[in-house]
Amino acid sequence: MRIDVVSIFPSYFDGLTLSLLGKARESGILDLRIHDLRDWTSDRHRTVDDTPYGGGAGMVMKPEPWALALDDLAAASERPTIVFPSPAGEVFHQTTAREFSGREHLIIGCGRYEGIDERVFEYAASLGEVRLVSLGDYVLNGGEVAAMAMIEAVGRLIPGVVGNPDSLVEESHEDGLLEYPSYTKPSTWRDRVVPDVLLSGNHGAIAAWRREQQLARTASRRPDLLND
Ligand code: ADE
Repeated sequence: MRIDVVSIFPSYFDGLTLSLLGKARESGILDLRIHDLRDWTSDRHRTVDDTPYGGGAGMVMKPEPWALALDDLAAASERPTIVFPSPAGEVFHQTTAREFSGREHLIIGCGRYEGIDERVFEYAASLGEVRLVSLGDYVLNGGEVAAMAMIEAVGRLIPGVVGNPDSLVEESHEDGLLEYPSYTKPSTWRDRVVPDVLLSGNHGAIAAWRREQQLARTASRRPDLLND
């Protein structure tokens, strides 16, 4: 899978050389390329923003560098999925991560300031499928942190990235519920004991207990997941 990221702060993404995604990049399973939007500017100051038409606070990202960047990057595949992290987008869920993990080519455009000139999204739709995607109902300073979260959520679903694929199945959100609690040795620690059933060796009882825990946790912490 290929992912191109465009940002004015490419070094945000340095952490994606670490751990499982770093290994996936080294082995070629994940072709992740980070680009500086300013490389598609042509003025001396490498300008990427300007004041908003109609007035208002802050600056808006200019369309020209974005269009040149998208032209170059979209040419690498047939019809890429072009993702713009935005608090005004659809909410990113595990199902979105799964959907994106099946794509051959993602382009992620990270906006800053008050956002990107709206015409960029219209133009991008002529090059690929455009998705405005929000991490949640809060505002970040730009798309970079959201893009990193999405890349990690998507990347770990690419076959071969997570060593033991069973570990993907038993996680929060994979079956619509929060995951069950986990324990390791020692069985007694600071007067706290591991639930007996987990030491019983009775796999049926363990599975039933874990399911109950999933339901109880979901009902208490995320009742919205049960009502959907
Ligand atoms: N950019 C700013 N806030 C964001 C959010 N909540 N999700 C995605 N991108 C963003």
